[in-house]
Amino acid sequence: MNKNSNNQRLPRAKGIDMGTYYTPKECARKVKYLVLPEMNRKIVEEFITILGMRETFEEHHVPIPNKVVMYGPPGTGKTLTAFYMAQMLELPLILVRLDAIIHSHLGETGSNIRKIFEYAKATPCVLFLDEFDAIARTRESNDEVKEMARAVNTLLQCLDDFGDSSIFVAATNLANELDRAIWRRFDTKMTYSLPDEFSRHQYIELLINGFEGEHGLTEEVCEHLAGCSFADIEQIVLKAKRKAIIEHGPLTREHIFLSYEEYSPC
Ligand SMILES: Nc1ncnc2c1ncn2[C@@H]1O[C@H](COP(=O)(O)OP(=O)(O)OP(=O)(O)O)[C@@H](O)[C@H]1O
Ligand SMILES: [Mg+2]
Repeated sequence: MNKNSNNQRLPRAKGIDMGTYYTPKECARKVKYLVLPEMNRKIVEEFITILGMRETFEEHHVPIPNKVVMYGPPGTGKTLTAFYMAQMLELPLILVRLDAIIHSHLGETGSNIRKIFEYAKATPCVLFLDEFDAIARTRESNDEVKEMARAVNTLLQCLDDFGDSSIFVAATNLANELDRAIWRRFDTKMTYSLPDEFSRHQYIELLINGFEGEHGLTEEVCEHLAGCSFADIEQIVLKAKRKAIIEHGPLTREHIFLSYEEYSPC
């Protein structure tokens, strides 16, 4: 079945849909577990609570937040958080396709950005723009690439005219390269980093849970995988589980050490 078959006619560019449509149910399926550091968990929870109190906020003439930027290294949960938010808000998520949006023809990129924002204004959703820096780089560094400088201006206008029926979420690995004016448009900012010992422990426990393992395995794995991202940890633990399954035995530290070497993360 076409991934976008249940969408509300997403705008198209280069003959393809400008985004991929995920229903709240599909978003929920993407998020089995999400380990967030305390600060980000609080930010997400507060954001969701506020959106559930729209009328009260209107009564107090306090605008609701609806523009989130997430930044940090790969594999730390930025995309996963966007799916989680859509699930919790019971809104569809539109994952914008940058390859469809960015165009070498003069004015085309800006016009595509406008179309996808207009869609989100008219249809309540979480509009998610991954690799946001590809569009929102500082205009100074783009002097020679006039098309992108124009696209940043369009993006600024779109963010200002966005209204409050949808949520805009942007993610980037390169926060320093974002245009400062764009940066100011966001009411919610979340920093992501590699997991600390506590988060690592929590995540490894979730991954190993229910799988027969050696005594003290979680602690040892936690120590061995220091410096890895969540995504790396997931891949290494899955690899190790496969080894244990082939051997019809419990998961051991040897499986983890070998998988770490084979995967060679970081
Ligand atoms: N905080 C987290 N909690 C649980 N799982 C995570 C977390 N971060 C990453 N993962 C695992 O790694 C996978 C990739 O994570 P995700 O796509 O959210 O990373 P990202 O920060 O968006 O990375 P990139 O910058 O490369 O886009 C997830 O599908 C999940 O399996
Ligand atoms: Mg991502």
